[in-house]
Amino acid sequence: MQGVDAGQIRAWVRLSESMRTAPRPALDGRTIANLFFEDSTRTRTSFAIAAGNLGARVVDLAGVGSSVSKGESLIDTARTVEAMGVAALVVRARQSGAAELISRHVRVPVINAGDGRHEHPTQGLLDIATLARASGRMPSLDFAGFTLAIVGDVMSSRVARSAIAGFTALGARIICVGPPAMAPRSLESLGVEVSRELDGVLGEADGVMMLRIQFERHGEGTPVKPEDKKTPVIASIREYREMYGLTRERAALLRPKAWVMHPGPMNRGVEIDDEVADSPRSLIVRQVESGVFVRMGVLDWAVNG
Ligand code: CP
Repeated sequence: MQGVDAGQIRAWVRLSESMRTAPRPALDGRTIANLFFEDSTRTRTSFAIAAGNLGARVVDLAGVGSSVSKGESLIDTARTVEAMGVAALVVRARQSGAAELISRHVRVPVINAGDGRHEHPTQGLLDIATLARASGRMPSLDFAGFTLAIVGDVMSSRVARSAIAGFTALGARIICVGPPAMAPRSLESLGVEVSRELDGVLGEADGVMMLRIQFERHGEGTPVKPEDKKTPVIASIREYREMYGLTRERAALLRPKAWVMHPGPMNRGVEIDDEVADSPRSLIVRQVESGVFVRMGVLDWAVNG
């Protein structure tokens, strides 16, 4: 989403809205390949459902169970699948830049479904679509005067990077909140503000996007295991939750009409409490729902132009 202008973002989101109100079999008889070399629940499933809604067949390939586990490169895998006659490749990978790299070696469109810490563009679009619908900004998609707080592990988050690019292009003010290793001052170069004080920011925000601690992206060369719930970038999970968790008590500081978002997967009881995630101000389920329409629009745009 970095470098994409507001006009293009609005066109994609409006196309996804048209898929919601008047779906059409834009990919009838075509085949879409899901190449997911990193785990996913929401993105992988919603791309498959979106392609099916457009009349396409879906082939679904994961790292485990494919010849990638025997040492085949992502590029050779992509070229092999392309040779079978697919209309587009949807790629998720651990490596930043993987989708872009693959796109230089195949002729069919490649859609980035999340690459390392870099970008998750369709997540950014679905976040924009969801917040625009909830806050009465559809179809204008004008976020001038809107303050979005992005809280937690911003440094590791491709979701945050796409959200920052998309929402700032549409006029929103963004405040990234977190401890120094997760929300360093260097983020200011992306046109956002940085704060260490969640309590102070909550009273200013029209929307709050909570992020998971991405344990698997921490550590020098040796990824931290999420199940260990220990990471060198914070002192402890308990302290993190006390300072940056959207607890039930802290949610009382939110403005009456402020929205709560989370891209998922959530770690309930760490960055967000059950009572907040499941409250009427939560857009989390609506984000997932929007994902299908956004991916229908993006697939149509990528394949049919
Ligand atoms: N938000 C998101 O990308 O979730 P998945 O990893 O489950 O696809």
